[in-house]
Amino acid sequence: MTKDEILKKQKQYLFPSVSTYYSDPLVTDHASMQHLWDVDGNKYLDFFGGIVTISVGHANPRVTSKIKAQVDKLQHASMVFPNEAVVALAEKIAQITPGEISQSFFSNSGTEAIEGSIKLARLAGHRVGGAAKSRLIALEGSYHGRTFGALSLTGQDKHRKGFEPLLEDVTFVPRNDVEALRAAVNDNTCAIVLEPIFGEGGIFECSVEFLQECRALADRHKAALVFDEIQCGLGRTGTIFAFRAFGVTPDIVAIAKPIAAGLPLGAFLAKEEFASAISPGQHGTTFGGGPLACRVALEYLAIVEEENLLANVNKVGGYLTQQLQQLVEDYAAAKEVRGRGLIQGIELEIPSRPIVEQGIAQGVLFNSTHDTVVRFLPPFLLQEQHVDKGIRVLRKFLGRKRRRAA
Ligand SMILES: Cc1ncc(COP(=O)(O)O)c(C=O)c1O
Repeated sequence: MTKDEILKKQKQYLFPSVSTYYSDPLVTDHASMQHLWDVDGNKYLDFFGGIVTISVGHANPRVTSKIKAQVDKLQHASMVFPNEAVVALAEKIAQITPGEISQSFFSNSGTEAIEGSIKLARLAGHRVGGAAKSRLIALEGSYHGRTFGALSLTGQDKHRKGFEPLLEDVTFVPRNDVEALRAAVNDNTCAIVLEPIFGEGGIFECSVEFLQECRALADRHKAALVFDEIQCGLGRTGTIFAFRAFGVTPDIVAIAKPIAAGLPLGAFLAKEEFASAISPGQHGTTFGGGPLACRVALEYLAIVEEENLLANVNKVGGYLTQQLQQLVEDYAAAKEVRGRGLIQGIELEIPSRPIVEQGIAQGVLFNSTHDTVVRFLPPFLLQEQHVDKGIRVLRKFLGRKRRRAA
């Protein structure tokens, strides 16, 4: 089909909400590692990575060969009959988080991993504090997904509006406001849920001091500390889990996005004392933990480890920070650089959406989830030369240069 035919059918047969992202959308055809091609044969450098799922590259040959082998062997049989891939994956996760996280429950998406985390935290809370121990603490400006539980924890009106009433037992506190946090947490709190680095919310980090206070309060009030690492986890910070980069260990971690290299897979991971709060039959899934996605997830972790990709995330991420900082020095429209590793954003004084659209026309895929932030969440294979290309393209859209003091 041609681009026009695909767009016409999209408009006709998919919900209208799907068609509203860009005025002239890129219609995808194929992709390889950090590049993507549209149906007209145009090539794009990808800083967007399939909404943060393509961390080991598009169609990475190691991933592709595992998919092919597993497809021929066993595609699905459900968790009623366990498979080798799911137990090997859970074992691997426990091995890379020694003394921290020991058990996993696999889902199909990030939002389901959040739902599972809340359910687990509620059960663990009720076990130690009875029915009243059910309150949740979340952060203003956060994003946790689109189901009702996840939306209830999402601290942005633009996502919540129209769907109320949501879960009532949620108190929002401003990110990094230790006093507000102390005032909000009490013995009825069953969980503090947060993203260590806001992803969709525009790349804002929680401070170490704030996270340490979350840990201390969760311990004092026997509540679960839940980290949503769906966007910032699995290598993007230059450590395999973001919590390592901040030196604060949560009780429950939600992951998803890149873990199965673009196939649907999420998980909530927990310390044994929390995982044991859930009894057989209290939570379940038809597709979660399927052998195909789990086999790919094992390969994802192997690629990150064996190909030393975390070192590359740190090296090229550092270079990206430098180059973005240079834009702030050079252009009046560039305000601030935030993030680390390969989860970074630049705050602008001008709208970011037109820049993303103009970037597409120049062969570079940037991303923007907020009015004035251009985000960079590329595959971990990124090299300095790719950063240079992205920065060259960005410079074209930033307008007037800053006046230097004479
Ligand atoms: C931090 C965070 N939590 C949860 C989600 C929801 O994940 P999914 O879209 O896979 O349901 C996302 C998705 O962008 C996310 O960034």
